[in-house]
Amino acid sequence: MTKLSVNINKVATLRNARGGNVPDVVKVALDCEAFGADGITVHPRPDERHIRKSDVLNLRPLLRTEFNIEGYPSADFIDLVLKVKPHQVTLVPDTPAQLTSNAGWDTKLNFDFLNEVLDAFNNAGIRTSVFVSPDGEMIEYAAKAGADRVELYTEPYAIAYLKNKELAVAPFVEAAKVARRLGLGVNAGHDLSLVNLNYLYKNIPWLDEVSIGHSLISDALYLGLEHTIQEYKNCLR
Ligand code: PXP
Repeated sequence: MTKLSVNINKVATLRNARGGNVPDVVKVALDCEAFGADGITVHPRPDERHIRKSDVLNLRPLLRTEFNIEGYPSADFIDLVLKVKPHQVTLVPDTPAQLTSNAGWDTKLNFDFLNEVLDAFNNAGIRTSVFVSPDGEMIEYAAKAGADRVELYTEPYAIAYLKNKELAVAPFVEAAKVARRLGLGVNAGHDLSLVNLNYLYKNIPWLDEVSIGHSLISDALYLGLEHTIQEYKNCLR
């Protein structure tokens, strides 16, 4: 079964626009779980422009599904993750000012750094995932550095899908095969939507998890959160 992890950063962005607690990020996360989500993803950034450290701490004891914390492994991020002990940590190479993650790690260039950080999380019993482009060499170095999984960066798939879906998915299928051969789990995320998710799943049915935020929360404006989550789950069948 491919798990659907709902990224709730956009909900926090909406809340932060007014300074109060509407919408309530914790309530939305619990409702996502009640509506069928298999996990919740958050991406706390140093400037707390969407998810705050306090959200991460508040969510931890209340969530009943898989909690995935993604982000750049700064000293503060590492401390937070080790304190909270989520089910999974996803390492993303984005700088503090970046609007959103727009590249995977160069796992060869950053091998020593990743190795050290992954060791710390592995020793704490937290499953680790490394965000990478669909590049066999990057996946091999992620495995050597100690990752349990890779998360394939799917924005290029989402863009190319609109022109030629067979060509768009091909490098992702190859990458997922490399990961499987190396014994790594495979996650995917970025720009996945009701348009492109089912085709990715059909081509890589051994996907462990997809993490989806922007499109899912946008669709919920029209369909409602419960119906939207069911629609995304239907794409994974
Ligand atoms: N995976 C990672 C590593 C991300 O940084 C993001 C965006 O925060 C996502 C998945 C979700 O992407 P989207 O919001 O486009 O669904």
